[in-house]
Amino acid sequence: MTDRGPISTSVVPWEYRDGRLRFLDQRALPSEERWIECATAAETAAAIRALAVRGAPLIGVAAAMGVVVEANRAAAEGEPGFAGALEAAFGLLVASRPTAVNLPAAIARMRRTAAASLGSPAGKRASLLLEEALRIAEEDRAGCLSIGRHGADFLERRIAPGPATILTHCNAGALATAGIGTALGVIRVLAADREVRVFADETRPFWQGARLTAWELSRDGFDVTLLPDVAAASVIASGRVSAVVVGADRIAANGDVANKVGTYGVALACRAHGVPFVVAAPTSTVDLSTASGSGIPIEMRSGDEVLSIDLPGGATVRMAPAGIAALYPAFDVTPAALVDAIVTERGTAVAPYAEALRALQDLR
Ligand code: MRU
Repeated sequence: MTDRGPISTSVVPWEYRDGRLRFLDQRALPSEERWIECATAAETAAAIRALAVRGAPLIGVAAAMGVVVEANRAAAEGEPGFAGALEAAFGLLVASRPTAVNLPAAIARMRRTAAASLGSPAGKRASLLLEEALRIAEEDRAGCLSIGRHGADFLERRIAPGPATILTHCNAGALATAGIGTALGVIRVLAADREVRVFADETRPFWQGARLTAWELSRDGFDVTLLPDVAAASVIASGRVSAVVVGADRIAANGDVANKVGTYGVALACRAHGVPFVVAAPTSTVDLSTASGSGIPIEMRSGDEVLSIDLPGGATVRMAPAGIAALYPAFDVTPAALVDAIVTERGTAVAPYAEALRALQDLR
């Protein structure tokens, strides 16, 4: 890997200080930097469900921290209810969103820690759970940096020298992780060596691109241009995009990639016009127990989120006439055949993905 020196971000979407868990409320961005506190597993699950905290790696971290605050609370109340409170927390948190595998993976780690500490006093068990949750966060922070380096190395080999324009969809940045981001991590590392301009798809209907990626990148000094999702294909066709880099919520064993709805269309346009389509994600997003994309649960969100727009400040504006239905699958699956590379913290997988992903998972 090329050593490009320190790469960082000014964006940190969560904190745990003096036993208090707080998240930057992503529903309020970009107009307001408002923090919300989650004092229980139920409050953390509600924040995840409402997209106040979002992005596959970050919801894994958030869920683990949700277990921690619940364990602290239950330990303070005494031994008898501790095991039951933990069990309820695992169940609530794991059910908060279905598609990102980082969430059940983080809860599985917390369950193993809880099981291994059986017999210890509740206070000791709570502190072991905190250690494990902080380990999950630290692994993600370090992993983002490695993903960035591997991804930038891959792009250096695949795109023309000189200024580069990278298109991304949704937000796979610092706001979605405990580090510099996955897709945006690649962009940040690439930008250490050459001029990089970013096209951010708006990402309807929650506007992760417009509200979050544009905010995060402009705050960190990047040249970012917003694109309506419906313009992505023609802009890719026009030759103005050097490569597309996106994140993922779950990657099946065969390399099919679930990511924010709209990603599949971007991948199709890339293949039609010979533009590299790269997925950047930690190995915690790879789910070898799901054979292909058809087995990935796709979150269906309320059609109301399509029919209306929530304005910063609280007002809701209805966009469609009354009585109209809306269908909102929050994710789609890009077939492995359209993916040029899957960049993880352990290295870059290329087709055939079944072998390559298994080999990366076996690397420890
Ligand atoms: O619904 P969201 O905003 O949680 O969806 C997020 C995405 O689709 C991201 O691209 C993905 O989680 C990767 S984040 C590093």
